[in-house]
Amino acid sequence: MAFSLCSTKTLLLFFLISAIPVAFIISSELAKPPTHVYHYHSSGFFRECAKWDDLNRRFLVSFIEGGIGEIAVPEDHGSSSEEAVLKEVTVVKDPALAGNSSLGIVVDRPRNRLLVAISDVLGNKYNALAAYDLSTWDRLFLTILAGPDNEKAFADDVAVDAEGNAYVTDAKSNKIWKVGADGKFVSFIRNPLFIAKEWYKNLIGLNGIVYHPDGFLIVIHTFSGMLYKIDVTKEDHEVKLIKVAGGSLAFGDGLELLSPTKLVVAGNPSGRLLESLDVWETASVVAKFKGPAHRLASAATVKDGRVYLNHILGMGYPKKQHALVEAVFSI
Ligand SMILES: *[C@@H]1O[C@H](CO)[C@@H](O)[C@H](O)[C@H]1NC(C)=O
Repeated sequence: MAFSLCSTKTLLLFFLISAIPVAFIISSELAKPPTHVYHYHSSGFFRECAKWDDLNRRFLVSFIEGGIGEIAVPEDHGSSSEEAVLKEVTVVKDPALAGNSSLGIVVDRPRNRLLVAISDVLGNKYNALAAYDLSTWDRLFLTILAGPDNEKAFADDVAVDAEGNAYVTDAKSNKIWKVGADGKFVSFIRNPLFIAKEWYKNLIGLNGIVYHPDGFLIVIHTFSGMLYKIDVTKEDHEVKLIKVAGGSLAFGDGLELLSPTKLVVAGNPSGRLLESLDVWETASVVAKFKGPAHRLASAATVKDGRVYLNHILGMGYPKKQHALVEAVFSI
């Protein structure tokens, strides 16, 4: 008897607690989005990263359950008033990596390949960088990212420089793995600046990373919001903290360059736009974009000069639907 009373109350309470966010989510989902959205049907609920592949007119997305999908965008898409929902097709499902997540991805255009950061998100025991041919989807290399001393690690995101070296951020132990164009591990980049003073701000550390055409990396530390400039033209990989004015970058996740002087930070808020007029010694937050927060923005990409944000959560039943939302920045 006590049990059933209790469970009725629990049920009621559960209903109240869950009804509020559910109502909020439904109303957010039904509201007409203020900016352009590419919707696509997907085989999974969780998509970590999306990058536009301009030569092949498709978005490439990484699966948290492991794998890569492509979402082709036909030339005439959007020409009718009711825009069709696009379709995700799985192009990589690597059985050797089952149980691991595919996270950050980057198109390495000169070498016609996709680089993928792979990690066992819950265990932090297996981390790797994989390269796949963009035409055949054959795996070109798989490099295990380990140590030193088997420290826990979380390969989160990846960038590629002009020579084809890849740089993978470790969000757990705050280092960067450098991997050569041939897939051979080269070195670790470590620096005391990578570690936040407060221990809890290191729970998610180095994350989004981009390569700037002038020969340096820009990297964000998610929980502290610190932003770094790392010179990769010099052997010692000099690390500097970028002075950021105009607002905090805390909870910044994926990065993308919109131009050599403009950087997009995806996360919470959905999008922040940074500008630097001194080659990224200093920068300012010049504008923001508020998208569907309940879907969790995690990565940015640029399509024909417009910024699109990937959102982790898909919605809908039985067909899961994801949203790539255009970020239109305002002050
Ligand atoms: C990740 O992949 C590696 C390599 O095949 C495998 O040994 C490991 O068990 C996988 N991790 C999980 C959590 O399944």
